[in-house]
Amino acid sequence: MKTQIVSVDNLSTKEHGYTQAVDLLNDGETVAFPTETVYGLGADATKEAAVRKIFEAKGRPQDNPLIVHIGDKKDLHSFTMNIPKLAMECMDAFWPGALTLILPLKPDTLAENVTAGLDTVGVRMPDHPVALELLRRLKKPVAAPSANRSGKPSPTQAVHVLHDLKGKIPLIVDGGTTGIGLESTVLDVTTDKPTILRPGGVTKEMLEKVIGPVNEAKLTDKAEAPRAPGMKYAHYAPDAPVYLIEASIIEVQKAVESIHSDHKKVALIASDLYSESNADYFFTLGKENQLRDAAHLLYEALRKCDESDADLVLVPAFPKHGVGSAIMNRLEKAAKGNWYS
Ligand code: TXA
Ligand code: MG
Repeated sequence: MKTQIVSVDNLSTKEHGYTQAVDLLNDGETVAFPTETVYGLGADATKEAAVRKIFEAKGRPQDNPLIVHIGDKKDLHSFTMNIPKLAMECMDAFWPGALTLILPLKPDTLAENVTAGLDTVGVRMPDHPVALELLRRLKKPVAAPSANRSGKPSPTQAVHVLHDLKGKIPLIVDGGTTGIGLESTVLDVTTDKPTILRPGGVTKEMLEKVIGPVNEAKLTDKAEAPRAPGMKYAHYAPDAPVYLIEASIIEVQKAVESIHSDHKKVALIASDLYSESNADYFFTLGKENQLRDAAHLLYEALRKCDESDADLVLVPAFPKHGVGSAIMNRLEKAAKGNWYS
């Protein structure tokens, strides 16, 4: 299969780009498109065979359900039911935006492989002009996980999608670099107390201002239920092993020296504060203490490690507040929980 990229930022190809994307989706094909978080790989959420193509292109485990994207709140009622009041409050406050809500699924509406057989469904309205335009023209719910090969960092640019899925999907709609850079927050509102299953662009602090106390599902807490099924898989990982390290210039210097004495090469992913360390490769996460910038740059930095010949990757830890929680959640998975010692 030949993979085409079409830019919709460019006036001369814009109209053709949307028409092509809508036609492909109506024909049961997959299309990659930008959202404000990361690029998604979309398919008509009501067609089993179309959704299967997403799993095949990504190499994604079948038991990991997909997020359904809508262009209008009214579209919700065709496939969800008994929407809790709290969920409505979240939609009013954060949609369109980086918040996925787990809601009760209306039976026999969506293709079964979208929800992996669960009786709930994750839904969000993305806050990106290209995604919204596409969804509003199509007028159907679109199942879309991140448009990367399973296990790799999510794509924040069209070239990342091309790198991972070239030859496996027919079309990438190019709308430039995504803004937030990390996936949406997944909030389960079907339980007594709302629970964050995956931290993301909409922070716990932001949610609590609107709906009061929320729980956070912990990576290690096996008893916590229901959890996002995707949490159990390796994620966001470059080829070389990743290690978290205490956020200290002295500790990072010592680690780099020790790695060099073993005749190994190291890539450092960190804020500019660390740019003078002697690491073989330095991939910046922007200025110190700018968590939103770090989130925006993180996946690109992890991908750059695969273009280097580093034997291992070091990342100084981030504070777990605000978007820092989402950054650390992704880094703990990329590092498989390993800290440098
Ligand atoms: O920002 C995003 O959310 C991006 C863009 C494209 O919208 N999408 C995305 O999708 O990150 P994906 O498939 O990579 O992640 C979906 C997450 C997984 O952790 C999955 O387990 C969880 O949401 N999820 C989906 N449906 C669920 C459900 N019914 N119950 C619990 N978790 C669910
Ligand atoms: Mg993903």
